[in-house]
Amino acid sequence: AIDPHFEQNREKVDQHNGHDVWGPVDEPESLGIHGTHVAVDFDICLADGACLEDCPVDVFEWVETPGHPESEMKADPANESQCIDCMLCVDVCPVDAIDVDGS
Ligand code: SF4
Ligand code: F3S
Ligand code: ZN
Repeated sequence: AIDPHFEQNREKVDQHNGHDVWGPVDEPESLGIHGTHVAVDFDICLADGACLEDCPVDVFEWVETPGHPESEMKADPANESQCIDCMLCVDVCPVDAIDVDGS
C-alpha cells in the first residue's frame, strides 16, 4: 500500500501535470508517487481503473507508462485541486495505491 507518510519519507524530485512527483524515480521501472493532496503510488497502481470510473469530479487521467512492471498506464491525479475528499477512490482501489489527505 501507499505510504501515508510519504511527504516525510520521500523527496520531491519533479513536477508533472501541475503536481509534485515524490521519488525515488528511475524510469521506466520506478515512477514514484504522483500528487500530494491526492497521491497515487505509480509503482503500486496496476491500472484497475476504478478510481477513474468512480471519482465524481474526474480528478484522474490515464498516463502511459511503457515498460513499468505493474502496468503500462497509471491513474494520474491531474486535477487534484478539484478533489472533494469523498474518499471513494481510496476505498475502491484494489491495491491501496491512493492516499487522500482529507482532513
Ligand atoms: Fe475523487 Fe473523491 Fe478520490 Fe477526491 S477522494 S480524488 S473526489 S474519488
Ligand atoms: Fe490504479 Fe488503483 Fe486507480 S490500481 S487505476 S490507482 S483504482
Ligand atoms: Zn503525474
